[in-house]
Amino acid sequence: MKYADMTAAQLQAEYDKVAEAFDGWKEKKLKLDMSRGKPGKEQLDLVSDMLTVLSKPEDCVEDGLDVRNYGELTGLLCAKKLFAEILGCQPEECFIGGNASLSLMYDTIAKAYTHGLLHSEKPWSKLDTVKFLCPAPGYDRHFGVSKSFGMELIPIPMTENGPDMDAVEEAVKDPAVKGIWCVPKYSNPDGIIYSAETIERIARLKPAAPDFIVMWDNAYCIHEFEGDYVPFPDMLSICRQAGNPDMVFEYASTSKVTFPGAGVSVMASSVDNLKYMTSLITYQSISYDKVNQLRHVRYLKDKAHTLELMKKHAAILGPKFKAVLDALDQEIAPLGIASWKRPTGGYFISLDTMDGLAKRTLALCKEAGVVMTSAGATFPNGNDPRDRNIRIAPSLPPVAELEQAVGVFCVCLRLAALEKLLGKEAAHA
Ligand SMILES: Cc1ncc(COP(=O)(O)O)c(C=O)c1O
Repeated sequence: MKYADMTAAQLQAEYDKVAEAFDGWKEKKLKLDMSRGKPGKEQLDLVSDMLTVLSKPEDCVEDGLDVRNYGELTGLLCAKKLFAEILGCQPEECFIGGNASLSLMYDTIAKAYTHGLLHSEKPWSKLDTVKFLCPAPGYDRHFGVSKSFGMELIPIPMTENGPDMDAVEEAVKDPAVKGIWCVPKYSNPDGIIYSAETIERIARLKPAAPDFIVMWDNAYCIHEFEGDYVPFPDMLSICRQAGNPDMVFEYASTSKVTFPGAGVSVMASSVDNLKYMTSLITYQSISYDKVNQLRHVRYLKDKAHTLELMKKHAAILGPKFKAVLDALDQEIAPLGIASWKRPTGGYFISLDTMDGLAKRTLALCKEAGVVMTSAGATFPNGNDPRDRNIRIAPSLPPVAELEQAVGVFCVCLRLAALEKLLGKEAAHA
């Protein structure tokens, strides 16, 4: 029965039952983590053969180049070819970085501030105001990068098809608006794939700022956990065809293909953009970790082989997502107190509580030993105006632990809703 249809007496009886269940969980003194999209141990073990791919000095030579030495700042050609095949762009449009694509993203923004981008009139640090569009809910670390440079974060509502493009097209008329964060495939946290129309409208933007950039974070480009690989268009050529060849910087990494702590990342952009960025990066590094680049290429081989590996990850991840969705379907759906997305790829499930209950639900989870991404994190400045979005990250705990964690979560969600419906909120405020 839906909570909204219950009488006060029924709600009170339900509250007593759920509060008892909550106390029961608390007594177990659990320590469970559903906060970040980390691969679980089984996934790390799955790819650990990679550690022995290069074992002798002669293994470290590729095309006559000793990868142990300095040089090749933009990355090994074989690594560029692998990422270009995965992303659908050209090898010369790829710059291969270290283990974190987030560092490449940060570096792009940092360069915009210190030196300006290819089409900047001046470095962003010389401007009074820099604004950045933040589709929300979105990835907390993107917003964090913008925030750390003192940008004004402009929330853009997310729709089923990606960012609300009417809002984006309106916002870019302001010359202080310098860019937008996008996770176009299996967006964090909603798991949405941007529609062809959204992608086209982004590519065709006519921003007032000549150095407006689309931060195209394709972190989940091959990360289906259910069903077959979903092909995705190459944003670099779409922007080029739309007359905006230098507007997009695309990022990806092997963090959730091999090791987040020891993967390889890529920044893909126009040849002109990469030439410009390389001319600046040349002062900060002589080369990235080419041993790791070669190890990855030898291990992953090509796109088809990498997709086979992703199927093995999916076999581990799929049941974890199913465990969460099954619990929500059984425990929460009949009560009408939350809605959630059903992604088929990426690392998250995005759930909306009734308005005003995200913080309280997560505070209860914490009390019962389950850590989740903090409420509000998926919005710019940590401010979810309706206090309702919760990001669930099922990947890290083993299934048995996950089932417990979701059990706790469902009880906390119910308790928070009952407190609200019974007017008991003041008691804990
Ligand atoms: C959308 C998105 N981009 C980037 C990252 C981090 O990527 P990397 O490990 O390559 O820095 C994450 C990690 O959760 C993510 O969700």
